[in-house]
Amino acid sequence: MPVNSFYIEKSTCSQCGICEAVCPALVIEKLDDGSIDFNSNNLDLCLGCGQCMAVCKTKSVFAKGMNYADDFFEITRADDFLSLLESRRSVRQFKHKPLCQEDLNKIINAISNVPHGDAHHNVEITILNSREKIMEGIPLMSEFFDKLGKWLHNPFMRRIIKKRKGEATLNTLKNHLLPRIEKGVYQNFSDDYDGITRGAYTLMIFHAPYDSEEHVEDAFIMVSYASIAAHALGIGATIVGLVPAALNKSPELRKIYEIPDKHNSVISLILGYPKYKYHRGIKRELKSVKIIS
Ligand SMILES: Cc1cc2nc3c(=O)[nH]c(=O)nc-3n(C[C@H](O)[C@H](O)[C@H](O)COP(=O)(O)O)c2cc1C
Repeated sequence: MPVNSFYIEKSTCSQCGICEAVCPALVIEKLDDGSIDFNSNNLDLCLGCGQCMAVCKTKSVFAKGMNYADDFFEITRADDFLSLLESRRSVRQFKHKPLCQEDLNKIINAISNVPHGDAHHNVEITILNSREKIMEGIPLMSEFFDKLGKWLHNPFMRRIIKKRKGEATLNTLKNHLLPRIEKGVYQNFSDDYDGITRGAYTLMIFHAPYDSEEHVEDAFIMVSYASIAAHALGIGATIVGLVPAALNKSPELRKIYEIPDKHNSVISLILGYPKYKYHRGIKRELKSVKIIS
């Protein structure tokens, strides 16, 4: 990758540090002299999500070869549903307070409108609306990802994971998760921040009995509705696959988060009042769309 794929335009950078704060992958750092730069040791972790560029007021951040003209768009309207979809971002930096009951109720009500495969839903939602409660589980999750990192280095364990979970899951674990585990993304945590729930005060977990019909599909539709409803209310959210992965392997964690033992935790959502504003939208391309008429 060319060196200039990642750079900060120092002449215009205000050194506000928001790009560093929103980066999900520890790719950007604030140096001792207050300046902002890319961390050359972590460039391989860059997701190419464009969040650093979308929040930069002065258009001074350049990541993974992206540019403001081709890869972003100005958010001009946010009052109709399609514009709302375009302006949604995965928000990982929150104000330090849980969601108020009224906002939670509105999101719950939005989820209740999802279409579902079976005549009735089997998916249950557990909402932890307390940073303290979420924090109780963080050391266990951190420990789990540490262990997972060790398994992924062991060829025998890799074969078992492939057999039980399939090649696609093994590839995700190897290519996406392992580099982050090795860089300690999930190892360091404090009361205010952790690399798994990102310091959120609200965590929604979607789970159902292992043998219940179509619960995986239903849970993903529900979490999508929840994240869009949150955005419509000015609430930030990010879908988090790490929490269910740990929950399904740890009875202690299930006990703390009050998830029944025979339940499959499918997906989770962190939520909160966003700390920062995104100044532009990020263009996303679909892999392939074929219209046959
Ligand atoms: C199934 C699924 C699991 C995800 N898991 C995580 C996660 O564990 N942690 C995280 O920070 N983001 C997670 N994300 C969010 C993506 O990283 C995010 O969508 C991506 O960075 C694109 O950003 P955008 O939503 O702002 O376009 C997940 C997204 C999906 C769809």
